[in-house]
Amino acid sequence: MRWLSFLLVGVSSGVAFAAAIVPGFGRRRSHSGGPTESVQSSNHAREIAHLSPAPGMNELAGSIAHELNQPLTAITSNAQAAREYLASGPCDPAEVREILDDIVADASRASEIVRRVRALILGEAPSAIHFNVGEVVDQAIALVDANARARSVLVSREVADSLPRAVGDPMEIQLVLLNLLSNALDAVESVRPHGERSASILAQERNGMVVVSVRDNGCGVEPGQLERIFQPFYSSKHKGMGLGLSFSRALVERNGGRLSAIRNSNTGMTFELSLRTEDASQDLRGSVLPLAPRGIHPLHHGGKNDERNAANGMYRR
Ligand SMILES: Nc1ncnc2c1ncn2[C@@H]1O[C@H](COP(=O)(O)OP(=O)(O)OP(=O)(O)O)[C@@H](O)[C@H]1O
Ligand SMILES: [Mg+2]
Repeated sequence: MRWLSFLLVGVSSGVAFAAAIVPGFGRRRSHSGGPTESVQSSNHAREIAHLSPAPGMNELAGSIAHELNQPLTAITSNAQAAREYLASGPCDPAEVREILDDIVADASRASEIVRRVRALILGEAPSAIHFNVGEVVDQAIALVDANARARSVLVSREVADSLPRAVGDPMEIQLVLLNLLSNALDAVESVRPHGERSASILAQERNGMVVVSVRDNGCGVEPGQLERIFQPFYSSKHKGMGLGLSFSRALVERNGGRLSAIRNSNTGMTFELSLRTEDASQDLRGSVLPLAPRGIHPLHHGGKNDERNAANGMYRR
């Protein structure tokens, strides 16, 4: 059961990864993306896709599993919560509706992941939307919130004023942020059983790029391992797949950006994600992502909130 959930979670990231990894993905067809996203599914995006490395099928399959796990686990947990709430006696319809809304949002995320995988297999170009980075940051934080709280990690964010819009596929960038936050939670938990556990996201403009930094005060990485951590299947964790960073880097590069790892001078790591920007006059307004669910709904009876939250975050530990 747990294995199945894990397998499923990886799908959303897997789509982008497929394009980034599998030769020929994203090249055969050239029509534009979905009707409302109406991006400029541009030649530029296709050119970027051509730059991507060629991963193996094991990496592709593993990455799909890696990314689908989070929405599927959240769906299961919220459905269980709704069932228990309904069995507990008179219910507030507004509360039930709220839980159902979150289930719908998570299902929508999962299907977006699958849609991208299909697009990759069909050779469609990646999206190139002008998107609000602060919005994507907030959605990623909302998605890890229950998991972070269950693990007593304080997650903060700072988005610079007047930050230009980035160009790329916001859902793929959201997946990257989820992977980086997931690693940050693991890293702080591993070395700080009782002390302050923190992870922060800072988004700012630098040299014409939007740079999103994910910083933690966790265990850090030895200097000699800095590039190794981006290799597929490298993991120092007991149950790690070692696919989060390799997949994330492939996604970022497919979107014309860069992903690098920096050791903090004091403790922990900072991962920097640099994204392209374009002329603000070409902005496409409005949200392009399915709304992030508000989180996992606490069980109304039984006092198992912590267990549930831990089970529902994007992390498997
Ligand atoms: N924030 C971090 N702090 C310390 N080490 C990190 C951090 N992020 C990644 N690492 C190191 O890089 C390795 C690879 O990370 P990656 O996300 O690719 O795989 P993983 O987290 O081990 O497994 P999974 O495939 O489930 O994500 C980790 O096992 C860990 O050793
Ligand atoms: Mg990871």
